Amino acid sequence: MTVPRIQLNDGHSIPQLGFGVFKVDPKETERIVADALEVGYRHLDTARIYGNEEGVGRAIAASGIPREQLYVTTKLWNDDQGTASVHEAFDASLERLGLEYVDLYLIHWPSPARDRYVETWHAFEELRGSGRVRSIGVSNFLVPHLERLLGESDVVPAVDQIELHPAHQQPATAAFAEEHGIAIEAWGPLGQGKYPLFELPEIAGAAAAHGKSPAQVVIRWHLQRGHILFPKSSTRARMAENFDVFDFELGEPEMNAITALEREGRVSAHPDEVN
Ligand SMILES: NC(=O)c1ccc[n+]([C@@H]2O[C@H](COP(=O)([O-])OP(=O)(O)OC[C@H]3O[C@@H](n4cnc5c(N)ncnc54)[C@H](OP(=O)(O)O)[C@@H]3O)[C@@H](O)[C@H]2O)c1
Repeated sequence: MTVPRIQLNDGHSIPQLGFGVFKVDPKETERIVADALEVGYRHLDTARIYGNEEGVGRAIAASGIPREQLYVTTKLWNDDQGTASVHEAFDASLERLGLEYVDLYLIHWPSPARDRYVETWHAFEELRGSGRVRSIGVSNFLVPHLERLLGESDVVPAVDQIELHPAHQQPATAAFAEEHGIAIEAWGPLGQGKYPLFELPEIAGAAAAHGKSPAQVVIRWHLQRGHILFPKSSTRARMAENFDVFDFELGEPEMNAITALEREGRVSAHPDEVN
């Protein structure tokens, strides 16, 4: 299956559907990522703070898949924001991954109490210049954080990775991103299993109508909304289920009904509170 790609504002493109490894046990990561690669995923989303970059790297190395066919994202943790520390943290991530470059490097959270994300971004610009990072972006940045970054740099983030699912769509951030050519990556695309999305009649009904699962309907909704996403599952059957979403399409009324589920239903922390 060829996954559609989303064009980024820097000339690179990214597979729209990938596989995320938040909360994947480092001891199990190699096996789980190996399963995901066998299922067909070619886009992997990890982070320094997940503690599993090594496992991701080992699975990539063992897979024999040519590097250019893979898309790998990792993220800078809050403690490493600053000027000098960014380079050191990046080198360490690259080494743990066993890669010569990453496709996308993200500032994980704005961490406003530190007030260092602008200088961190300038260090990211240098990293991109070094060729060891193809694209640079941010995560959990809300409109005020993006406005400040855009006011102090000529480099517009390629993506903003934010919590986004039918019950929490962050319309203001999404609209700002669209206006400025920043692609939206939806984390927690299934509500992390914390929001009871799958039982909602709009989702369960569409699933029954298409002979698909509620998770597949939610993933399809994201794809048709233009989001980049990488649902996580430790179970191979669910990895396959989440990847099997290219043989049906939600109609406009179904899309509209799911979009109308917005409830400001954040399931994780507010970006101003993660420091
Ligand atoms: N930038 C950030 O701050 C940030 C924060 C959080 C996440 N992320 C990224 O986004 C990725 C995805 O988000 P997430 O992992 O938090 O949440 P998610 O993908 O919305 O949900 C994962 C949960 O859903 C379950 N699940 C997966 N497929 C399912 C299916 N087909 N049917 C029923 N349940 C299913 C999983 O359980 P099983 O594993 O048991 O199948 C797991 O409990 C992460 O892995 C990470 O890469 C980024």
